[in-house]
Amino acid sequence: MTTPKKTPGTTKPPQMDLQTTGSQFGALLRSEREARGWTLEQLAKRLKVTKGYVSRLEGGKARPAVRMIEALAKVLHLDTTLLSILAGHVPADVEAILRSHPLEASSVLRESFGDSGYGDTVSDALSPRISENQPTYTASASRFELVEGDCFSWFGERNPNTVHAIVTDPPYGLKEYTAEEKAKLRRGKGGVWRIPPTLDGCARRPLPRFTVLSEEEKRELKAFFSRWAAGAMRVLVPGGHVFIATNPLLSHLVYIPMIEAGFEKRGEIIRLVQTLRGGDRPKNAHQDFEDVTVMPRSCWEPWGLFRKPCEGRVQDNLRRWKTGGLRRIGAEKPFCDVIRSSPTRSPERDIAPHPSLKPQAFMRQIVRAALPLGEGIVLDPFMGSGSTIAAAIAVGYQSIGIESDIEFFAMAKEAIPRLAAFVPNGDASEQNAGNGKAATSDQQSFFA
Ligand SMILES: C[S@@+](CC[C@H](N)C(=O)[O-])C[C@H]1O[C@@H](n2cnc3c(N)ncnc32)[C@H](O)[C@@H]1O
Repeated sequence: MTTPKKTPGTTKPPQMDLQTTGSQFGALLRSEREARGWTLEQLAKRLKVTKGYVSRLEGGKARPAVRMIEALAKVLHLDTTLLSILAGHVPADVEAILRSHPLEASSVLRESFGDSGYGDTVSDALSPRISENQPTYTASASRFELVEGDCFSWFGERNPNTVHAIVTDPPYGLKEYTAEEKAKLRRGKGGVWRIPPTLDGCARRPLPRFTVLSEEEKRELKAFFSRWAAGAMRVLVPGGHVFIATNPLLSHLVYIPMIEAGFEKRGEIIRLVQTLRGGDRPKNAHQDFEDVTVMPRSCWEPWGLFRKPCEGRVQDNLRRWKTGGLRRIGAEKPFCDVIRSSPTRSPERDIAPHPSLKPQAFMRQIVRAALPLGEGIVLDPFMGSGSTIAAAIAVGYQSIGIESDIEFFAMAKEAIPRLAAFVPNGDASEQNAGNGKAATSDQQSFFA
């Protein structure tokens, strides 16, 4: 299997043809106009242009100039960067990022702005296809159980002290995985997955977890994680670890309830992943404040690391419960808390088109670390399309995945064996040790 090679400085920036970007731009424009209940004429009036011109924009037959994009961003409260990219004008700093990540360009855009703004045609135009390698992981020693249902009910019914680690990526917006919002996501129309929330005064495309939360919603989120932490505490064995995905804006709303429920905070795993979030100049005043960025451009994703208190010393706990520590990468290499990662690439997204899919190259590293002796059960109570379970299979661990959404559950059943067999492309260092073996020296250097 050959992998397209990247040669720094020689790669071309992602190309977007006018027809593809124009139709994406037009579709977005139409859906945003319709979401506001405006006619073509009403939008044209606000933009001070003719109705015919708006119609041509919506039909992908005209390409807006930069001034028109700024006017549209203002009138529709949309992100200028997103509109510019969809219209085929890539800002210099964004182009620099995409130029340095030609293979991951479409995923960078997805992680930054969400799925809904980018149809497959645009991703195809942005990113060369990477074909899957032959599987090298075997999963013969693994067993996994998939549960379709609500994790809170499962926590109540499960015998206490029967899970050895939890690795999970929970919903954050509270709204985005409600039946109503998922229906809108699947229709590709309306809802939190499409309507840009406001962040520090800047309208953004929806990754829903970046939705600005009201005080009431923050209270609800904390209450959600308090209930969740109590359930997790009940089923975990003493010394069991929790790896929980979050984001820099919301992590405190997860961490405080976890600590209040009795978990020890053991640090954070930093997933170094470049997105295009943040880094914008003040909205509608960027020319006046050229040297200002309102928020830092996001380059990392925190995963909270917690432990249920051990019984006695770590060595006593390890002997009795098989937990209390983290699995080393190798004799000379402890598990480290900064992990370089790519956004989830299209070969994995093609297998599991869940809007929040995490990449196997990253998941296998944290899942492997979660069981210090490689024995026990890893639980993902918010399984989604099953990336944790696939990672557990790939490293030879037993696991349980719970998913409440019937369609995501069906997706997971299909995707898990294929994700487990998937070999991440890129350099060999991305491929963490499979089958519970120690990492090779090449792999170890990656963790340095
Ligand atoms: C952020 S996604 C996880 C995606 C996952 N990381 C992946 O790679 O596919 C969270 C998932 O939790 C599910 N979910 C939300 N509330 C749940 C609950 N109470 N019990 C079980 N699953 C739930 C949602 O349907 C969604 O698929």
